[in-house]
Amino acid sequence: MLVTAVEARPLRSLVDVRIELGAGIVSLIGPNGAGKTNFLEALYFALTGRSFRTSDRRDLIPFGGSLARVEAVVCDADGVERRLLASVSRAEGRRHLLDGSPADPATLARNRPPVVVFSPDRLALVKGPPAERRAHLDRFVAARWPSRSELRRRYGQALAQRNALVAQLAGGLGAATELDVWDAALAEAAAALAEARAAAVEELSAPFAEAAGELGLEGRAAIEYVPRAAGSAAEILVGLTERRDADLRLGRTSWGPHLDELKIASAGRSLRRYGSQGQQRAALLALLFAERDALLEARRAPPLLLLDDVMSELDPERRERLVERLDGAGQVLITTTTEESVPGRAKRSVVRMPIAVPHAAAA
Ligand SMILES: Nc1ncnc2c1ncn2[C@@H]1O[C@H](COP(=O)(O)OP(=O)(O)OP(=O)(O)O)[C@@H](O)[C@H]1O
Ligand SMILES: [Mg+2]
Repeated sequence: MLVTAVEARPLRSLVDVRIELGAGIVSLIGPNGAGKTNFLEALYFALTGRSFRTSDRRDLIPFGGSLARVEAVVCDADGVERRLLASVSRAEGRRHLLDGSPADPATLARNRPPVVVFSPDRLALVKGPPAERRAHLDRFVAARWPSRSELRRRYGQALAQRNALVAQLAGGLGAATELDVWDAALAEAAAALAEARAAAVEELSAPFAEAAGELGLEGRAAIEYVPRAAGSAAEILVGLTERRDADLRLGRTSWGPHLDELKIASAGRSLRRYGSQGQQRAALLALLFAERDALLEARRAPPLLLLDDVMSELDPERRERLVERLDGAGQVLITTTTEESVPGRAKRSVVRMPIAVPHAAAA
């Protein structure tokens, strides 16, 4: 699936911009403040209905304006075109439309490529709390094995139900045996989710190590799944039962995949705790590349990669290798401020920003 055009009318500083995009690598080149990140954000918003920069979509509305609106044209493998439109308005809230009509999230997701963003803000994935990494890993699971895409939600629901009952019991209402049925449901959901996460990390470890090496992360870089509860549903049920009294004292579920960690390390040390900024960046990129490789390998749709400002901190040789790795499959948008930081083969498709004339097209 390819995004063939994006129209921001308007979004942040992009007032009336249409950019056509080709397959492969597209380089967006322009000075600071030219609207490069805004454009990536616009595209992301059109596809997902969300921003990767802010949780308040109204930030996307141009200063002094009342509406932000972006449309993306997506072309599938059979050449069928679909239009996704996302908008947010001060008066009417937000909308996300497929070919002009409202659609549920699953339908919207089926009609667009998966999209992955690398930006300085996303370093939180490496240096932030484990919840971010769990959510990220679960998104990969969903892209890799669509039949497993509900596991995260299912576990979350079972956990919420058990927690509600635990809180109630902790408050002295009801008998602890009422938990039996919820524990069984939670154990089932937990076992399936932990198994999927383990399978995902198993697939990602080799390509991660390889990409990390290419990006110059010295020392052997590795990702490791550290489950809080693993094993069969029956084994997890035993664990839950053993911890029941403790949970009732705490008033919540203290054990299970909602506490899992995805450890990212170099030379055996956690990059979250000890990594430099540059090492954390390299690890994040390596993880995103590993996911892309795994999806390509499994013949799943590779994600559209939005790489914001990734060239600036790489030396020329690493830039070259990065472009080599990305060339040839899927679609990749790379922003940069200087022409010189774009390796030759990434110059085939260049968009120069800011776009002065409306309806300017990619070179
Ligand atoms: N809601 C908004 N309405 C209008 N302009 C906005 C809005 N939000 C941000 N801007 C403006 O958009 C411009 C920044 O655009 P953007 O972040 O896309 O730049 P950039 O090309 O990525 O720059 P850099 O190379 O520094 O990352 C700034 O001038 C900023 O003031
Ligand atoms: Mg930027």
